[in-house]
Amino acid sequence: MNAAPSQNVSHAQMLEMLRWQVEAGVDIALDDMPIDRFAESTQRTIPEPAKRSLPVRDSPPPSRPSAPTVVAMPDGAAVASAREMAAGAVTLEALRSAMEQFEGCNLRLAAKNLVFADGNPQAKIMLIGEAPGREEDEQGLPFVGRSGHLLDKMLAAIGLDRNSVYITNVVAWRPPGNRTPTPQETEICRPFVERQIELVAPQVLVLLGSPAAKTILNTQVGITQIRGRWAKVTLGGQEIDAMPTLHPAYLLRQPAQKKLAWQDLLKIRMRLDG
Ligand code: URA
Repeated sequence: MNAAPSQNVSHAQMLEMLRWQVEAGVDIALDDMPIDRFAESTQRTIPEPAKRSLPVRDSPPPSRPSAPTVVAMPDGAAVASAREMAAGAVTLEALRSAMEQFEGCNLRLAAKNLVFADGNPQAKIMLIGEAPGREEDEQGLPFVGRSGHLLDKMLAAIGLDRNSVYITNVVAWRPPGNRTPTPQETEICRPFVERQIELVAPQVLVLLGSPAAKTILNTQVGITQIRGRWAKVTLGGQEIDAMPTLHPAYLLRQPAQKKLAWQDLLKIRMRLDG
């Protein structure tokens, strides 16, 4: 931070304020200057919640403090568009480029990169997480941050690595501040992750954490109740064995639960060997 401290705020205080923001999840600056959203909200009406807003590309930057120029896509239209684009993709590369062009998910606005997948598309085993975090957004790859490092160790414990697995997320763009994706955002992204499963056609799916398990298994039952038991996922006319298990980020917070994850990993290893 090179900015000179102001008269009333010391350098140490500024650093402390920045640290506080990072801890609250504000870990990227989207603009050079702060925007007073409270002042803005008195000047304009709040858009309908059902409407999604996307910037019109190639238009000149809007003058502050007005809101960015936007186009709106209702959630239903966004899901229909995602379904159509996903269904039209007959290869993973086509799916990736469809997602790059897809404008129906607002998460794109704050995300730096589409986080499509990592690993081996020929793998027998496909792992699905919730959504990218900061490091994943920076690198455009899933599970490369702290939980990714733990995931790599978990895979190594059963003789796997990124050359022998395929990894993706339910949601392909980082939610700002690592918040949980909304149900609408998840539904908008669902056709893409389901098409990805169809195209990879793995023998085994590993669902990392509650959001991934709930979305892919279409259930409301929490992960602690369904983890460790094989489920079936039918997609594209094929039935795939799915193992819901604990998310590595949860295991970082609750290391004592690693023993449960280990039991699940052994079941996965046995299914792959069987
Ligand atoms: N958590 C996830 O669910 N996915 C990632 O890619 C990283 C962290």
